[in-house]
Amino acid sequence: MKLIKTLLAGVAVAAVAMPALADTKKAEVLHWWTSAGEAAAIKQFAEAYNAAGGEWIDSGVGGTDMAKSMLTNRLMGGNPPQVGQFNTSREFEELIDAGVLNNIDVEAEAGNWGELFPPIIDNLVKRNGHYYALPVNIHGSNWLWYNIDLLEQAGVEPPSDWDSFFAAAEKLQEAGIVPLALGGQAWQERLTFNAVLLTIGGQDLYLRLFQDRDLSALESDEMKQVVSTYTRLRDLVRATDSGSPGRSWNDATNMVISGKAAMQIMGDWAKGEFIAAEKEIGKDYGCVPAVLPGSTYMISGDVFVFPKTGSDADREAQSLMATTMLDPKVQVAFNNVKGSVPVRPDVDASQMDACGQQAIKLTSDAKVHVGSTSMYISPDLAGALQDIYTEYWNSEGMSEEDVLSLMNSAFKSID
Ligand code: BGC
Repeated sequence: MKLIKTLLAGVAVAAVAMPALADTKKAEVLHWWTSAGEAAAIKQFAEAYNAAGGEWIDSGVGGTDMAKSMLTNRLMGGNPPQVGQFNTSREFEELIDAGVLNNIDVEAEAGNWGELFPPIIDNLVKRNGHYYALPVNIHGSNWLWYNIDLLEQAGVEPPSDWDSFFAAAEKLQEAGIVPLALGGQAWQERLTFNAVLLTIGGQDLYLRLFQDRDLSALESDEMKQVVSTYTRLRDLVRATDSGSPGRSWNDATNMVISGKAAMQIMGDWAKGEFIAAEKEIGKDYGCVPAVLPGSTYMISGDVFVFPKTGSDADREAQSLMATTMLDPKVQVAFNNVKGSVPVRPDVDASQMDACGQQAIKLTSDAKVHVGSTSMYISPDLAGALQDIYTEYWNSEGMSEEDVLSLMNSAFKSID
C-alpha cells in the first residue's frame, strides 16, 4: 500500500505539470455501465452533458473491477480521464490522500451539497472537510427479483423466509425451472453472502461486525446460520444452475427476464435490465427489497471523481459535468432508467415505480438500512473477505467453521 501511495504521489506532481490536454468542456468518462439498462442510463448523462455545451467522450469498460483498476492505473500513469467512476465507498480514499483528485468544494458550496446528501453518503465523498467525489444515485444491493409467470407455474409465492425460499426452490426444480440464477463472479458471491447476513442478523449483527469490528459477532448463533444458509444456496446453485461460474450479473438477470430462471438476488441495477427489456412490474416481474420481507436494506451507489490533469479547460469540463449530473431533472431521468433513486431528496419522485417507491422509504429511514460493507471497511479487508466467500463457494475443501475462523483472522490482521 505504501508503494502505491509513493507511486501515486509521484504521479500527482507529474499530472499537475502536464500541459493542457483537452478542448473546452471535452470530458472522457471512464465507467463500467455497459449492460443494456446501464447503457440506457448513462446515455441520459451523456445527452444532458452535450446539451449543456459539453462534449462527452464515452469510455465504458465491462466489469466493475476492470474499470476501477483501469482508472487507478491511468491515474498512476499520469494519463487520467477527466471523469471516472467508483462505488460510493472508501475505495478512493488513497487516491485522495495521494493528491491526484481535484477537490470539488466550489461546486459543492454552490449546490449546497452538505444539506442535500444523506449523511452516510456525504461522509464518504468528503475527506478532511473537502469534497472529492460526486454521488449520483442510491442503489440497494440486496433485492430479490422474480419472474411472476414462473412462480405461478410452479404454484409458489415469493418467499417469506428461508424455509419457504428453499421449499419454493424445490417445487421450481420439479417443474424443470432454474430456481435461482446466480452470476458466478467474486463480487456477486460477496453480495449474496451479505444479503443472507442481513436477512438473519439484521442491522444489529451487521453493524457490530462491519462498523464496530466486534468479533464476538462471528461467534454468534446467527452468524453460524448465515454461513449454513450460504452453504444451502451454494448447493442449490451447484445442483440447478451449471452455467453459473463466471456468468455476469446481467446475463443472470436476463435468465429471469426470458423465463429461464425464476429468481435472482441482485441490486436494483437489475431493474434497469427489466426496464430495458420493456417488462412491467407486477405483471412480468416482482421485487422484494432486502430479499426477504422485513430484512435490513443495504444502501450502495456510484460516484464520479475528477482527476487532476493540469488543464484549466478540463477543470471547467469537470465542473459542468458535476452540475449536469446533479441537476434535478437529469437526476430523475437517469435514476428512473438506472433502477436507483436520486441522490438528492428534493426532486419529484412521484413518477417512480412500485419498487422505487419502496427504495425511497427504505433509504430515508436509518433504522431499516445499512451501508454496503465497503462504506465501513478498507478495500484491503473487503478484498480479503470477498476471497473467503468466493473460495468457499467454489471449492470443496473448506468447512463452515473455516469460513468464520478465516473471517476472524482477516478482521484481526487487516486494518
Ligand atoms: C454499481 C451499479 C452497477 C452494478 C453492476 C454496482 O457496483 O453500483 O451502478 O449497475 O455495479 O455493474
